[in-house]
Amino acid sequence: MVKLHDLEFEPYLDQNTLQQSIKKLAEQISADYDSKTPIFLGILNGAFMFLSDLMKYYEGDCEISFTKLASYEGTSSTGEVSTLLGAGNLKGRDVIIVEDIVDTGNTLEHIVQVLEKEGVASYKIASLFFKPEAYKKSLPIDYIGLEIPNKFIVGYGLDYNGLGRNISEIYQLKSKLDD
Ligand code: HPA
Ligand code: MG
Repeated sequence: MVKLHDLEFEPYLDQNTLQQSIKKLAEQISADYDSKTPIFLGILNGAFMFLSDLMKYYEGDCEISFTKLASYEGTSSTGEVSTLLGAGNLKGRDVIIVEDIVDTGNTLEHIVQVLEKEGVASYKIASLFFKPEAYKKSLPIDYIGLEIPNKFIVGYGLDYNGLGRNISEIYQLKSKLDD
C-alpha cells in the first residue's frame, strides 16, 4: 500500500506487466514505421517514464521530443488557444503522440488540433493506458498498451496532485469498501 496526500492506493500492475505491453507496442510501431523516421512526441509530465522505456524497445530511426500543452484564453474571437511548448518544428513530420493515459480525451483533442494547424504529414496516438468507459471523443487511439477500468491510478509517471510519478509499478485508488 502507498499513501499520497490524503489517499491510499493498492498494487494494481507490476513492472513485468508494464514492460511486456510496452515491448509489444514498440514492436507494432517499429513495424508500421519501417521505412520512415517518425518523431515521438511525449506529453509531459506523465509520459516521461513510458516514452523512455518505449524507446529502449523501438528499432529503427526515430527522433524524440517532449512537450507540454499550454492552454490560455485568447481574444474573444479566438476563444481558448492551445500551444505545444518546446515541441520544435513539426511541419511535414510523421508524429507519434505519446500519452501516459487517455481518459476523457479532452487534452488529446487540443493536442491534435495544434498538430493539424502545424501541418504535420501524419499523426498517430500511442497511450500506455486507455479508459474506454471515460472516453468521450471519436478520435481513434492507434496504439494502446492496456485498457483499464475507470478508476484512478498512480505510478510510472502518473500522479495524484504531483505525487507518485516515481513509483515503478501502478497503484490503484483503494476503494472505501475494501477497508
Ligand atoms: N491517474 C492519474 N492521472 C490521470 C488519470 C489517472 O487515473 N486519468 C487521467 N489523468
Ligand atoms: Mg496528472
